[in-house]
Amino acid sequence: MTTQASVFEKLGLPKQPYLLAPLAGVSDHPFRRMCADQGAHLTYVEMISATAMLYESRRTYEMLTRHKEEEILGVQITGSSAEDVGRAVAILHGLPFDTIDINMGCPVRKVVKTGCGSAILRDPERVYQTVKAACAATDKPVSAKIRLGWDRQSVNAITVAQAAEAGGAAWITVHGRTRSEDYGDPVDLEGMRQVKEAVSVPVVGNGNLFQRQDIEHMKLATGVDGFMVSRGAMGNPWIFREFADEAFRLSIDEWEHVVLAHLHRQQEAYGQHPAAAVCMRKHLLWYAKGWNGVKSFREAVNSAATLEDAEQLVREFSERIRSSDNVFRADMIQTETAQRFAWDPKYEMDRALDRGVGDDGLDKMPEIQIN
Ligand SMILES: Cc1cc2nc3c(=O)[nH]c(=O)nc-3n(C[C@H](O)[C@H](O)[C@H](O)COP(=O)(O)O)c2cc1C
Repeated sequence: MTTQASVFEKLGLPKQPYLLAPLAGVSDHPFRRMCADQGAHLTYVEMISATAMLYESRRTYEMLTRHKEEEILGVQITGSSAEDVGRAVAILHGLPFDTIDINMGCPVRKVVKTGCGSAILRDPERVYQTVKAACAATDKPVSAKIRLGWDRQSVNAITVAQAAEAGGAAWITVHGRTRSEDYGDPVDLEGMRQVKEAVSVPVVGNGNLFQRQDIEHMKLATGVDGFMVSRGAMGNPWIFREFADEAFRLSIDEWEHVVLAHLHRQQEAYGQHPAAAVCMRKHLLWYAKGWNGVKSFREAVNSAATLEDAEQLVREFSERIRSSDNVFRADMIQTETAQRFAWDPKYEMDRALDRGVGDDGLDKMPEIQIN
């Protein structure tokens, strides 16, 4: 147990940390900071392509910006060969990241076609070589994020996890689905438990963590050492607060304060460029989850042309809720079905990745400030 927890302790993390996943098109520094404020112990830059790094893509280097107030930060890389990943990690080693993850789970066709993401899972020898090459290029902790396998007929997470461990992985994050499964498919906690049992490095669980009870359920069913939240944090950075404080309920005052802070950070990062407002729209639509009477807010947000317009809408919406008879957001448990099944974020991810990994239409934006 002492050995298992030590890599987290070395990073200054608690024994059972809560992580914000790398999220293409979502986990830029304004959003990461919102989650860190609410208690996320470790956050990540969205997935970076080794090829884009090696070709010195300007947008990719902008995505690697670490804000001066970020106390700890991870980065995630994927690549079509062990050699490319090793070369990219050698560059990442010189940048201000505390830990480096290798993505072996991204299901997006465009990514997989180039041999990246979950394509790596299909060849455990490549998993081993990739992690080994990464570990040879840095002395920072290297982790691997995997799925249970390519499809139900080829579940190989145990072999893959053992290969990653043999290559030197400091921990393994398991998304409890196969590459071919959708978000509507349940997370296979038994598959995750078996991975946990098969390796001696820590295992972080990922998949369908939307509320405190989900963490408790995953912990009991699998014994994993940490938890990585993905969709559950989108529009809901308070999820990390809820993990720590069972009694927490989100009031409209707190909501307004946090959403405005996110808007201000968005402006600090991207300026008043119209694309900054366009990128903020999705966050605002997610932030509206769980409140009553959001239809008109959502419609207005969809056409907010500037961050100032968006700020005005947030203030008006908050005022309306404050004058209603319920100033608290509905329990996420009540909205959980809608969150899990009504909207498949894979399309969001596809759209983001179709424009280049993590490129969210920001190509027309001015230089992002390096803090
Ligand atoms: C919009 C979006 C972007 C994502 N981008 C990444 C990424 O860059 N790297 C990664 O490892 N996983 C990425 N994922 C996958 C999630 O990290 C996670 O494995 C998956 O959503 C399952 O967790 P969940 O059920 O809690 O959402 C992304 C998911 C979404 C919805």
